[in-house]
Amino acid sequence: MKTSKRLEGIGEYYFSQKLREIDGLNKAGKNIINLGIGSPDLPPHPEVIQVLNDESVKPNVHAYQGYKGIASLRNAISQWYKKWYNVELNADTEILPLIGSKEGIMHICMTYLDKGDEVLVPNPGYPTYRSAVKLAGGKCVEYKLREKNNYEPDFEKLGNSKLKKVKLMFVNYPQMPTGQLPSEDLFEKLVAFGKKHDILIIHDNPYSFILNESPMSLLSIDGAKDCVLELNSLSKSHNMAGWRVGMLCGAKERIDEVLRFKSNMDSGMFLPVQLAAAKALSLEKDWHDGVNTIYTTRREKVFELLRLINCKFSTKQAGMFVWAKIPSKYKDGYDLSDHVLYNNNVFITPGGIFGDAGNKYIRVSLCAPAEKFEEAIQRIQDPLNVPGR
Ligand SMILES: Cc1ncc(COP(=O)(O)O)c(C=O)c1O
Repeated sequence: MKTSKRLEGIGEYYFSQKLREIDGLNKAGKNIINLGIGSPDLPPHPEVIQVLNDESVKPNVHAYQGYKGIASLRNAISQWYKKWYNVELNADTEILPLIGSKEGIMHICMTYLDKGDEVLVPNPGYPTYRSAVKLAGGKCVEYKLREKNNYEPDFEKLGNSKLKKVKLMFVNYPQMPTGQLPSEDLFEKLVAFGKKHDILIIHDNPYSFILNESPMSLLSIDGAKDCVLELNSLSKSHNMAGWRVGMLCGAKERIDEVLRFKSNMDSGMFLPVQLAAAKALSLEKDWHDGVNTIYTTRREKVFELLRLINCKFSTKQAGMFVWAKIPSKYKDGYDLSDHVLYNNNVFITPGGIFGDAGNKYIRVSLCAPAEKFEEAIQRIQDPLNVPGR
């Protein structure tokens, strides 16, 4: 069967291919330590699981749910935004719960893009922005994020480029994969840029609670609702990646527009999941602190591992990865990644999968217990002693 034109140039997701290869290596006895994917291995708060358990045994919770989510979840999101980001959101009109923020990226592209419309996407950046734009028929215009500019867009260069056809710009701070934190100055520039060029800025904000003391929302900038939609997620902040709970926040008109598309795609979210998500959003700082203490210990081990393979990195990164520059003896991050995969049975992500500006980098995930990092360090120190060799 011939696949649609829309799928041309859309490959299988890198991790889906690589995990198959790793599976094959494991079947051959290699016992690969996977430090690639950013899926939290820690559980949600026990009270969150309790809500799911208590609610899911009730007989009357199994029906389809409304397209805009239940009021108590939207209220919880509104209070969460006020408490942590100091942003006021009307729970009835300015919030749309999502089945994870990844689907929101696609909904936004399908809502706003026609053939030929252009979208600014970060390089390096989350690969889903690029595929969603292409699937929706739009054209990606990459903007480079460079270490020397603190991985911020070069606004001067962007302002001098042709922007007439650009409708959307994807941004994401704390940035994945570089771990760069936002500053107020950067956020102000983004809002000014969106307003000046009539571009809808899509801020994807799933990492603001991980290894970061001051979560920030782009919506906290004055007048931001005129040109910003913000995606957020419980996947990383609340260890609920598999639960699929995210949210889209912004002006009522934008939320209504996206809902026109989304309501034709799914039929709401399981009620007990929504109630448990509302519980998660009410957690206090001590819970986030506990999670971050674990990530801090792991990150120290990752720093040790990266020093062993002579990579350079900033110790001030946020999010659940460490981004590091490779030593010059490797052609690129793929070369280094293959080297440690085949010699040391450790998988780390080549930075090039996030765009060619990431070619000289690798990304190590913090989503593994500290012992795994210790074992990975041992395998790198003593390559002759790794399983299956
Ligand atoms: C930058 C970024 N945005 C969005 C997502 C997707 O998150 P969710 O689980 O909410 O779909 C990820 C997941 O890895 C991500 O890294």
